[in-house]
Amino acid sequence: MSQPQIKRGLLAAALVLVCGYLLTSQTTLTTSYAQQQAGAGQAAEPTMEEKYKNIQALKGLPASQMRPMMNYISASLGMTCADCHVRTGDQWEFEKDDNNHKKIARRMITMTMELNKQHFGGRTQVTCFTCHQGFDHPPSVPPLVKPKADAPAAGAAPKAEEILAKYVQAIGGKEAVEKIKTRVIKGASVAANGQSFPLEINFAAPDKYTLSVALPQGASAQKLNGAAGWLKNSREDRAMDGVDLMRAKSLAWSLEILQLKEPYPRLGFAGTEKVGDRETNVLQTRLPDGRRVRFGFDKESGLLLRRVVQTITPIGIDPEQTDYEDYRDVDGVKVPHTIRTTYLDQFYNSTRKFTDIKHNAKVDEALFGLPAVKQ
Ligand code: HEC
Ligand code: HEC
Repeated sequence: MSQPQIKRGLLAAALVLVCGYLLTSQTTLTTSYAQQQAGAGQAAEPTMEEKYKNIQALKGLPASQMRPMMNYISASLGMTCADCHVRTGDQWEFEKDDNNHKKIARRMITMTMELNKQHFGGRTQVTCFTCHQGFDHPPSVPPLVKPKADAPAAGAAPKAEEILAKYVQAIGGKEAVEKIKTRVIKGASVAANGQSFPLEINFAAPDKYTLSVALPQGASAQKLNGAAGWLKNSREDRAMDGVDLMRAKSLAWSLEILQLKEPYPRLGFAGTEKVGDRETNVLQTRLPDGRRVRFGFDKESGLLLRRVVQTITPIGIDPEQTDYEDYRDVDGVKVPHTIRTTYLDQFYNSTRKFTDIKHNAKVDEALFGLPAVKQ
């Protein structure tokens, strides 16, 4: 990855962070997604020190935060895993402390957590990125050429209810949307280098899908069935772990035609933001599992262009951004034909383009049965 690319990514992440801090939400969304998350959050999850071998700074935190945190740290410092961790041949030895950067990072984690605890009432306000800004050494001289800030919008803030009503109208109205229970989708998964591979999705609202992508090295497949999932590719064949499930549920959520459902308590207007060259109204709330979610609706068309889910850890905020593009009419509802998901760990980024969408086609429930594989 080139340095400018990293910088651009970080800038975007920073914007998300900064905006997130400035805003508070007033209204909860009750998507089926939110309900799933509430259920999932209650499962007894191992702590960091139960799952990993040499935990000193991150004790007591849920183990599923390890990957988001490590990705977050890497992105915040412009580093890769290898800058802090050692390996022997192909074998990573993440638990070893042989790299001095890891030891410094551990002290920094403790410092950052203490700062937030002692000075910010335990809220994640100071993060690795606050100081590091994508560099191993935080800059101490302000830039002489300042980036131009957008002028604040004049006038009264629009109401969340109005933005949502316009969105529901824009995609075809509640009645048309709620008729759709299953979706069979064909299209392509487009790699970062532009190569594309045939993709097929069977979706049953709200939380079941199968996804297969025909890759040159063999098919890649996954299934989500409520609270559990499975994945298979040329390297592995296993039950989904916490992070996989989080991502899979996000995809299921993206496949629901209506992303937010009534009632909308605690969903509040959170300013405006550019998505590409479109101006959006942003609504924000918290999911029952504590993650923050922001939705960007096109000011003109009313369509949902972006959803950002932020996992808030004690040292920083790990964003997952989903962009909805190329809305077209299928059966009287407008649905995005391109869904683009971006993470700090770019390996997981995906662009899915749909060419053929069938609604309420018969989807056999047996499709969602999960193979018995090791956890
Ligand atoms: C800036 C330094 C830094 C970078 C970059 C970094 N890590 Fe870490 N990593 C740490 C520190 C510090 C710990 C120990 C945390 C503690 O003591 O609680 C750790 C712990 C871990 C552990 C737990 C090991 C064990 O069993 O105790 C794993 C797994 C891990 N990192 C994976 C990664 C991956 C994967 C990446 C790249 C995406 C990465 N790390 C990037 C500093 C870093
Ligand atoms: C309050 C500001 C601040 C915060 C927050 C912060 N750092 Fe730092 N960090 C610094 C400064 C300043 C240095 C440079 C120290 C020096 O040069 O001796 C540094 C240096 C480092 C280095 C050594 C880099 C090198 O190449 O030698 C690592 C690794 C690091 N920080 C990791 C982290 C991690 C991980 C986090 C978040 C958990 C974090 N820092 C949060 C200020 C901060």
